[in-house]
Parts: sequence; C-alpha cells; structure tokens
Amino acid sequence: FFLPRQRTLWWCFENRNMVFEEIVDKLWVGLQLENLPYGLALLVVVYFVKFTFERVYDEIRFRKITRVPSPVPVFGHLFSILTSGAVWDLFADWCLKYDLTLRFPMWNETVILTADMDFVKRMMVHEFNSYGKHMPTYAPFQPLLGNGLVTSHGALWKKQRKIIGIGFVGDVLDIALECGYAAVERLCDTIEQNRKTNTPIELDEAFRHLAIQVIGQAILSMDPAESDKIFPDLYLPIVEESNRQTWWGFREYLPLPGVLKARSCLKELNKYVIEIIQKRAHERSLNNYEPTKGDILDRILDGCELSHSNPLSMEQTLQLLDEVKTFLLAGHETTASTLIWSIFELLRHPEALARVRKEAAELFAKMDSKNSNEFDIDKHLFKKGLPFTEAVIRESLRLYSVVPMVTRTPVIDDEFKGQKIPKGTWISIMIRAIHLRPDLWENPTEWNPERFITFDSIAMKNFMAFTQGPRRCMGQFFSITESKIVLARLLHRLDLTIVGKGGDVSDLLVMGKGREKEREKEKERVTNVERHPYVVPVCPREPVMVMGEKRNKI
Ligand code: HEM
Repeated sequence: FFLPRQRTLWWCFENRNMVFEEIVDKLWVGLQLENLPYGLALLVVVYFVKFTFERVYDEIRFRKITRVPSPVPVFGHLFSILTSGAVWDLFADWCLKYDLTLRFPMWNETVILTADMDFVKRMMVHEFNSYGKHMPTYAPFQPLLGNGLVTSHGALWKKQRKIIGIGFVGDVLDIALECGYAAVERLCDTIEQNRKTNTPIELDEAFRHLAIQVIGQAILSMDPAESDKIFPDLYLPIVEESNRQTWWGFREYLPLPGVLKARSCLKELNKYVIEIIQKRAHERSLNNYEPTKGDILDRILDGCELSHSNPLSMEQTLQLLDEVKTFLLAGHETTASTLIWSIFELLRHPEALARVRKEAAELFAKMDSKNSNEFDIDKHLFKKGLPFTEAVIRESLRLYSVVPMVTRTPVIDDEFKGQKIPKGTWISIMIRAIHLRPDLWENPTEWNPERFITFDSIAMKNFMAFTQGPRRCMGQFFSITESKIVLARLLHRLDLTIVGKGGDVSDLLVMGKGREKEREKEKERVTNVERHPYVVPVCPREPVMVMGEKRNKI
C-alpha cells in the first residue's frame, strides 16, 4: 500500500531498487511512529516481494541458459554448496553434467558458470574491453590487493600493466632461477638436517615459505631470514581472514579477533613495504636514478621514469604498495600449491619421477662432476631444456586447477549465442571444468604430462591455469621457472618419502577416519585426493609430511 498509485507496476518492476528505497524511507517513518512490530513485519514482506520479483525477473531474462536443477525451492543451491565438501568440484561437476554454460541463483542474484571456450575467449580475448572483473567476488581480498594489477580497471590497469610489464621481461627469469635455486638448497639442507633427528618436514608449508622467500627476494631483494620473519607474521593472518570472509562476508563488520588481527597486520605490512619503496627511491635518487639492486622493484621504478624534477610521489608509492602486495598474494601460494601437487603425482608415478631426474642429472652434470653445490648451470640448457619437468608442472596445474575459477562481468550489455548478457551479470569462468572436459582432453582425469610435451598441441589452446588474453597471469613464466628449478634440484638431491597416516601417499590425502561416507562419495570424483574445499589456491587439506634421504649418486 505504500506504492505510489500513479506509477504502473511495470515501472516499479523496472525501477525496483528505487521503489525499494522509497519503501524503506516510509518504513523508517513507521519505525519512528513506534509502530515497530508492524514496521518489521512489513519489512519482511517487502523484502520477500522484492526477492520474488528479482528471482522471477532473472528466470525470464536468462531463460535461454540452462538452470541447474534445484532440489530445494527458495534456498536454491545453498544447501548443496554448503555440504558439497569441495565447492569448486561441485561447480565443475554441474558444468560437465548439465551444460557448458548454466546458471543458478545465489540468494537474490543469478550466477552464470561457464566452461564454454567460445564464451571464455569472447570475455578474455575478442571482447576483452567489454568485460571487467566481478568485484564483489574479490572484495574479501580488496584490503590486500587494493588497486593492484589483479583488481584495477580501465586506464589505470593499462598504465600499470605497461609499467610492470617492464619489470617482468628480459632476464627476470634469471632472477626467478637464481632465487629459486638458493631457496631449494636451503630446503634440501633442512630436510637433510631433520633426517638426522628423524623429524619429518611439512612439505606443503615448506613450499609456502620457499615461494614467499623467492618472491620477497626477487621483488624487494629481501633476505630469506627477513622474509621468514616478516611475511608469515604480517601477511598470513590477512590472507586467512580474507579466505574466511569469502564465505562469511559479515565477519568484516564484527570486531572478531581474526578481523582485528588482520587489520593491525595490514597496517604494519603497509608501513613496512612503503618504507622499502621510499628507501629504494631515495637510494636511486642518489644514484642518478639508476638501479641499485637490480630486482623487480628496480625494474618497475625504471618504468616510472623518475628524475630529480619528477620524484616518486605519494600516489605512486601507494600504487606500488598495492602492486607489491598483489605479487605476494598472486605469486606465492599458487606456486607452492603447484609444487605440492607435482610432487604428489611424481611420487605416485615412478617412471615420471625417473624422467624428471634424468633431465635434472643433465642440468647439474657440471656441478656434480665438481662435487659442488655452488650454482653453476648452463642457463641456456635450462631455458630450452627440461621439457618433461615443465610438462609435469603444467599437467599438475591442469588436473588440480589451483586457481579453479575466475570471475568476470560485462561492463556493457552483451549477447552470446542469442542470449542477452546484461551489464553487471556475475559470470564465473570454470577453469576446473574446462580442464576436465572429455571432449578437449583425452582421459581428462588421468595425470599424463605427455600431453604437454609439444607446445603446438591442442592442450595449450585449452590450458587455462594462467588464463588467456591481455589479462593473463603476469607471473606465469616466473612461476614455471621457479617450479622447474625447485623440482629438478629437490628430486636430484633427495629421495623423498611421505610419512604419517600409514606412509602411503594416496592414504595421506584422502579423507580422514570417521568420514567413510564422504570417502565413498569422493571416490566417484575425478581423483581420490581431497582438495581444500574453498581456499584459493586449491591445496591438499592434510599436511604432507615427508622425510628425505640424500641420494647416493651425488
Ligand atoms: C602457478 C602459479 C600461478 C597461477 C596458477 C596463477 C594464476 C593466475 C590467474 C588465473 C590469473 C588471472 C586472474 C583473474 O583473471 O582474475 C593471474 C593473474 C595474475 N598473476 Fe598469476 N598465477 C601464478 C603465479 C603468479 C606469480 C608468480 C606472479 C608474480 C610474480 C603472478 C602475478 C599475477 C598478476 C600480477 C596477475 C594480474 C594480471 C592482470 O590482471 O593484468 N602470478 N594469475
């Protein structure tokens, strides 16, 4: 009865948000008139009407897209999502089972999932300018990512991609190679040391440390001890809280210990990184604006074209702060997850392991002949060589899709295969489903690095781990270089054995005791490995405890 009479219902329907606001205004008056119970009851009714309108409206406008069948009315798929165990698998299953592009209601919004490569290429390559990132899905990570490359748009993104591109070309891969080698040597030493006291090492955690040391050293010339001290304390609580807020967004508004801790860590992390950037800018100003360390920060500062008349401004400093934090987030856990899945598969496939070791033996032949651990390899051989090791990395990325999905939204109304895609629609590109499509990959659930041996193969066309197009991953070659040297050196130096939970590698990662029902369900899934249900990047849920033995051949 609050609806203005002279307006038609259709107008209300089209302008439902405005009408809703008007009603809320009136309700507020109602509350002030001390009609509290009526006001609240009306609020519920109004919300329900609005909700129903939106659902019906979306049913009509997206009618050409297959709807995921829903067992529960109103609540839709909430129940299946919350009980799925591994939500990315559930979404991928839907794409593979019902249709390559489909939709489901997420409360009052419609989400489109797609594994259709034509649609994906449209969004990422051909009509790239018409699609932006769907920001609400990045919101929990926004405090960390700020206006960095992953979350920026339009002109700012173009400018930054150009400047940062300078930092990621040329011999930057040598930095990844050298930092990666130094880090894996330290890891091997620790594993050997632990062997003496029969103490296993948590390899997934060790890879996280390794990757953050590498990124800290490559970008900011931080020494490993400093990385180990600063980042786990300051950075990890922020990431943990962001992951929690991905599902429980309301946490942001509550003074919970995790939220408060993340906030104070963010403040300190910002202060710490800003100090490094400003110190570096100052050093460069004393050095005629020439590089002083030769790391990635130096290269990016080269791109800023600073001079005495154009010194680093506060605005640029804050932008660089966001970029550095973006690199930390985008570039460390992703690489760590890739490494742990690669090791997991290699330990289950002795023939593949032998092939990786054969390539490593050639790479380290010079050092072995001198019986030295000092880094001395033929960089050319490294760059063009180790094809099988690289294929192992790509195949592990395909099978486990450590970034299982990315989101996009049209910035203008678009149309695909006769279906209108209105501006603002939430679209999730299901990388995981693309990587498991049986029509694109032979025996997709099988781990088979052979499919990535030749680069001109169809595999590369449908390989989406780093996505494709102008917004593809900036650090993909950095990450592959780092992973290659780490795998090669680790497996060349040591024999690894997984311990705990019976010592059987496949036992270790399947579901634990008391969850037999889920285990049965899990068996039907693509592998018998339990991936983490929602954390990105996807990693094993159980810690991977290993013991390492020095290999005889060195
Ligand atoms: C195995 C390791 C990695 C994987 C699987 C991975 C995956 C991805 C994916 C899927 C995207 C696209 C995100 C989106 O569209 O929303 C992306 C973007 C990005 N990645 Fe990576 N990444 C990895 C390693 C790295 C590393 C090591 C760095 C930096 C050193 C890095 C830096 C970035 C940046 C800056 C972007 C944003 C690019 C842009 O929007 O222009 N990544 N990555």
